Amino acid sequence: MWPLFPWRRATRIGAGTDWRALQARVASRVQIHIAPDCPRFPERIELSSGTRLANAQEMTTLVGGFAYEQGSRLPREPWRRPTEEETASLIATELPRDMSTAVSIIKLPGEFSDSARDAIRTAENEDFLAPLRATCDFGEPVHCIGTGENLPGLKTVTVNHERGEYIGMHVDTWDEYDVQSLHFATNRICINIGWNARYFLFLPYSVADVACLLAEELGLGWEIPARHTEIGRQFMARFPDVPVVRCLLAPGEAYIAPTENLFHDGSSLGQSHKDEVFTVRGRIRPI
Ligand SMILES: [Fe+2]
Repeated sequence: MWPLFPWRRATRIGAGTDWRALQARVASRVQIHIAPDCPRFPERIELSSGTRLANAQEMTTLVGGFAYEQGSRLPREPWRRPTEEETASLIATELPRDMSTAVSIIKLPGEFSDSARDAIRTAENEDFLAPLRATCDFGEPVHCIGTGENLPGLKTVTVNHERGEYIGMHVDTWDEYDVQSLHFATNRICINIGWNARYFLFLPYSVADVACLLAEELGLGWEIPARHTEIGRQFMARFPDVPVVRCLLAPGEAYIAPTENLFHDGSSLGQSHKDEVFTVRGRIRPI
């Protein structure tokens, strides 16, 4: 397979290399912007020790009716706080311009009361946008996925319902774009409407950048897998020390993320109640 960006220098870095060395090789860094009115929790951003394959127990033990698909990759513990250098690299101080490589954390206006929670749950037509319009632009097209629930205590929450399995770190494919076009894909806002903090997990490189790195690493014989999630699995197998970034989202907070262009998942670890979210796709940006 040809390199996606053939003009870039094909210096090779082997597996196990300090992940920050990869930063110099990617076209664009994924950065997180945290809205000023969101509390500065010490555990707001954490990094895993890398990634790992789902183990035999995780692939055979049903949790909520599902086990992990063979080949799934999960964050490898322990989690840690980022260093100052990593924080400077990950956190954007200004509103992002390019939402295809940006994760934003926002807070719904006002107190997140039970009535605010119910208003989102039961909204009809485009009423669900009303409490969000003060914080985001939605662009077009807007697609309301609506309410979703997960068990508490899950390392990753996403189930591929066609396969009937948890899939671990993955890429969404609602738009069905090819890798070269993912920068034009829709993004999503996912609001935590539950009772506990939850997490958004992601690998800090876009799918396009990861495909480019793999093309450089593996040379002309490498073919881009048709399943975008598989691109990430190959990358994480080759670079198992690249950390997963974990963003904490309190009830009433939301992430906006390009989930068609990021290897990601949600996590309900540490929750005592069911995990509950409300999700809308669009071309969404914080204002
Ligand atoms: Fe997803």
